[in-house]
Amino acid sequence: MASTPKGMKRHLTNYGDPDFSLYLRTAFIKAMGYTGEALDRPIIGIVDTYSGFNPCHATVPELIEAIKRGVMLAGGLPIIFPTISLHESFAYPTSMFLRNLMAMDTEEMIKAQPMDSVVLIGGCDKTVPAQLMAAASADIPAISVVTGPMLSGSHRNERVGACTDCRRFWAQYRSGAIDRSTIDDITDNLVPSGGTCGVMGTASTMACVTEALGMMLPGGATIPAVLADRMRHAEQTGARAVALASEGLTPTRIITSEALANGLRMLLAIGGSTNGIIHLAAIAGRLGVDIDFRAFDEMGRETPVLIDLKPSGSYYMDDLHRAGGLTPVFRELRPLLNLDCLTVTGRTLGEEIDNLPEPFNQEVVRTIDRPVHRGGSMAVLKGNLAGGGAIIKQSAGSPELMVHTGKAVVFESVEDMAQRIDDPNLEVEESDVLVMKNCGPRGAPGMPEAGYIPIPKKLARQGVLDMVRISDGRMSGTAFGTIVLHATPESAVGGPLALVENGDMISLDVPNRQLTLLVDESELERRRTRFKPAIDPASLRGYLRLYHEQVNQAERGCDFNFMRAAQNGTTTP
Ligand code: FES
Repeated sequence: MASTPKGMKRHLTNYGDPDFSLYLRTAFIKAMGYTGEALDRPIIGIVDTYSGFNPCHATVPELIEAIKRGVMLAGGLPIIFPTISLHESFAYPTSMFLRNLMAMDTEEMIKAQPMDSVVLIGGCDKTVPAQLMAAASADIPAISVVTGPMLSGSHRNERVGACTDCRRFWAQYRSGAIDRSTIDDITDNLVPSGGTCGVMGTASTMACVTEALGMMLPGGATIPAVLADRMRHAEQTGARAVALASEGLTPTRIITSEALANGLRMLLAIGGSTNGIIHLAAIAGRLGVDIDFRAFDEMGRETPVLIDLKPSGSYYMDDLHRAGGLTPVFRELRPLLNLDCLTVTGRTLGEEIDNLPEPFNQEVVRTIDRPVHRGGSMAVLKGNLAGGGAIIKQSAGSPELMVHTGKAVVFESVEDMAQRIDDPNLEVEESDVLVMKNCGPRGAPGMPEAGYIPIPKKLARQGVLDMVRISDGRMSGTAFGTIVLHATPESAVGGPLALVENGDMISLDVPNRQLTLLVDESELERRRTRFKPAIDPASLRGYLRLYHEQVNQAERGCDFNFMRAAQNGTTTP
């Protein structure tokens, strides 16, 4: 069998004459000033996700320099190429809508250009999952590096950081507890440096999950963006990418269903973002694997939250790094992990854990016997209102609301909620359940992080801090509250949430994993026959139309149906 061509000979542009294609390619690349000797080396692609609209990736240029240094020290030729970059606050209507576009862009650029391995520089929430989805599908040797978390800031001697504190202060501003000049002052200090959000939000979650999947060199998830350590890790990553190219160790050999289970285990132990489960489902789908949500819920019951980080706890990512990063987490989780999984180092996860540095005293990562939260950070709900499943991050909710029955106050869409939530005439009481429809992948579109429905202003001013809230949307990993998310199928396609009407009674029972609409089945059937989809796909064009027609539901990761690998019958253990 012919071996796969290497370096510049890979993936030749098709002119009908491969020798001509190589001759032309070589002529063009020489315009960049390369010698023949340089072009004979293994070619290591480096994905450049710098963008002036992405402060979480502000340090990418320095990271690229460090990765290039590592590649060249190891005998490779680094070649940088751009892809889409996504920042949470600079992506209309929502970054989730564009994640699949970034995944397609990254996959196709990896496949279209000649590289023997690739270094993926991710960071902000959707970038890392988009790159892992792409790497799983392109399946050339790949290694992840992240920009790393920002430092924590200070406001009037109080530590602050994006973005749990953003929400806390905004809630105070809405309730009238702080004024405009104070919130303006806070705005100057919430994001004190480049890098990703400094709490256990989605970016930090996906960095930790990526290390647990084996796709990142050990220690890389938590190093703050602006530390010298971050550059050293990048240099080592570049060097390792050269070795990966010769070893041919591809993502499909690393991201197995057992490795995905390790990722899920890490997600639970760190009290990670609920978005993590959607992204892991999408990555799994690229390998033909389904997430077993029942097994995930069981896993949650035996995996306590070990990290005392906001929003479930009190510390920040730079504290976690000082406490040893994921080292103590891996040590605690060892008995629960699949240790035979290969990692990008070429060694197994078990071998990496055996090589961890000595433990030392710290307060940020707890032991399994003295966790921050027992019983798992997330629970998977069933019942007639959860349909195919819904998620609650119980570690960030109010214990007294984990079993609650209340009257539904329904909003038909994100826009409807935004218009009426602060209306003084809104009929709502503290014990009610706020329900928002049409916030799912198709309905919104892009499943925005609007599931964190704000407490109605008139209740917030009375001191109400939390209520049960339900939607088919998502919530930022930095948010907190008793919030049920990802109800599937979404209301826009006629899922159970579409049937809820004002005044219906809803029961939430997290210990028994039940979410129930207390309405007779005969009445629900009547409502079902009246349902009409709000959106006519024929009225849409371009990427929006592709998205609307092809996006799948949360339990499959909101990927496009045609991007999934053929089902191989495997689920996560
Ligand atoms: Fe980029 Fe939070 S906005 S990580």
